[in-house]
Amino acid sequence: MRLLCALGLFSALLHVTSCLLIGAFNIQCFGTSKSKKTDVMDIIKEIVLRYDIILIQEVRDTDGTVTQSLMDLVNQGSPQFRNISSDPLPLGPGSYKERYLFLYKFQTVTVTGSFQYTASGFERPPYVVKFSSTQTAVTDFVLIPIHTKPGHAVEELKALDVVVDAAKQKWTNNNIMVLGDFNAGSNYVPTRTRSTIPLFDTNVFHWLIPDNVDTTVSKSGQAYDRIVVTNDMYRGMNPRRAGIFDFEKEFHLTLDETKAVSDHFPVEVKLS
Ligand SMILES: *[C@@H]1O[C@H](CO)[C@@H](O)[C@H](O)[C@H]1NC(C)=O
Repeated sequence: MRLLCALGLFSALLHVTSCLLIGAFNIQCFGTSKSKKTDVMDIIKEIVLRYDIILIQEVRDTDGTVTQSLMDLVNQGSPQFRNISSDPLPLGPGSYKERYLFLYKFQTVTVTGSFQYTASGFERPPYVVKFSSTQTAVTDFVLIPIHTKPGHAVEELKALDVVVDAAKQKWTNNNIMVLGDFNAGSNYVPTRTRSTIPLFDTNVFHWLIPDNVDTTVSKSGQAYDRIVVTNDMYRGMNPRRAGIFDFEKEFHLTLDETKAVSDHFPVEVKLS
């Protein structure tokens, strides 16, 4: 993968289309206290550096300081990332608020639009972002982030169809990727409910992270985190290699060091 992307970088220099790596990472309770742990932040930095675009979830950052410290860290030395995020979204009746945060490499990707989905139906309503890339055959595409509430996963996954339509209509663009912690594992999304969820319609969508992928650090065997693309995007961008980024193994971490970062592994896909 690294070699392929290195070759991709080389061909980018020759103005040949290459690859784009997109990830989605639920960084459990990513707030002020985690952002001050340098060991943890160094690992998060190394993870972020892999991606052209990474969606980060569970960002508990009302005043922007957590985002700023992450941006400072990943841009240390040579600035290459910009960010775009939702406002802090209130979580239920409690005082917690979380953002959807995207970091992207501004030399390969630009943001060309965004909107906050506001209709009801979600604990964390998606903040939809349109990107444009010089690295992919399809140059314009839309990312819809979603982190569902476990007990509401079925209802929220059902409601995503409306968000996909809203994005399609706003930008007349059918290249759409839905990504994040769907909680599409355990008993949260029972198999019998799938026929009621438009996102599972294989005429329209393609699930890149199948059920047998374990996205949890605890090795619970559950594919909570997913990446789903419209068939248009699937055909146009020929997704190669989707899966988890097992940073525990890749960075030779102990289980405790890994858990200090998150209870989830990032999921990722490379587009051509
Ligand atoms: C990150 O986002 C904040 C808030 O939108 C913005 O003020 C800041 O300039 C962004 N930083 C970068 C490097 O993109």
